[in-house]
Amino acid sequence: MGKYREVIYKLKDKEAESLIIEDLNMIDFSKFFIEEDAERSINLLKLYFNLKDEYEKEVLSRLAKYNLELVADQILEEKNWLDEWIKSVKVFEFIDGVWINPYLDKKVEKPGLVLNIVPGSAFGTGTHTTTKLAAKLLSEIGCEGKYVLDVGTGSGILAVYAKKMGARYVKAVDNDIFAVEKAQEAAKLNKVDIDIQKSDLLKDINTDIKYDILVSNIIAEVLIELIEDPKFHIILNNKANIVFSGIIKEKEDIMLTEAKKYGLELKKRMEDVGWVALWFQKVI
Ligand SMILES: C[S@@+](CC[C@H](N)C(=O)[O-])C[C@H]1O[C@@H](n2cnc3c(N)ncnc32)[C@H](O)[C@@H]1O
Repeated sequence: MGKYREVIYKLKDKEAESLIIEDLNMIDFSKFFIEEDAERSINLLKLYFNLKDEYEKEVLSRLAKYNLELVADQILEEKNWLDEWIKSVKVFEFIDGVWINPYLDKKVEKPGLVLNIVPGSAFGTGTHTTTKLAAKLLSEIGCEGKYVLDVGTGSGILAVYAKKMGARYVKAVDNDIFAVEKAQEAAKLNKVDIDIQKSDLLKDINTDIKYDILVSNIIAEVLIELIEDPKFHIILNNKANIVFSGIIKEKEDIMLTEAKKYGLELKKRMEDVGWVALWFQKVI
């Protein structure tokens, strides 16, 4: 563990927050988190760079356009930003009746479902709006007895949730090996059986299994790539339900046009603080 540069900005509103997250996701930068300060009702954006970090220049120049107020810019000695973040997490209600237990060594009893998701370098600790929207739609669809595919599983949170809702078989893929490892850890911790594989979207998965539900919380550009892949249509059963999340409001129309072009019928949309999640059904 070496020195880190920590840059902290004050965030003005939730809409800007979603645009910023989308911007950082676009370049695959993940060493940041948003700290909510409920007492002062402000959110802080905390970013971490290794010294000589390849992302540093690109990230800071992308953020310049938001005119954020700089709160701190400092070099931290031998401090692990991940540990600092982990210290700040608590048990919380992820969506109605579903709780997240972020502790590796503590059991939590709550009415409803408890998902054990320990924070780490993979995305998906349950605090993010896009994950919550995807989970809400999954719960509405219902996973009992279903074959579910989670594309871009991150920490494995949605795959674990689907399995805990009674899915018969869950497959989860991610193109990031750290996410694959984290998702495997989550499956073990939750004592659920999930088939987890490294794959760039659907490239490395076989077409023997057909799915009833596909969930993917990535960004609009990548979701469009997914719809355009012929394999996407091959591996889905007729009337399969598809949940797309991670779409910023500005990209919703493109998503809808693209989905319609490929025979997906919109069943429901949900929106929160500039993020949109769409539930489609394959009509043929
Ligand atoms: C926004 S996170 C979502 C994580 C989790 N599913 C959730 O809902 O919280 C997106 C995830 O998609 C993965 N991802 C991005 N592009 C991908 C691709 N082309 N193929 C597979 N996974 C991808 C990222 O590594 C990341 O883990």
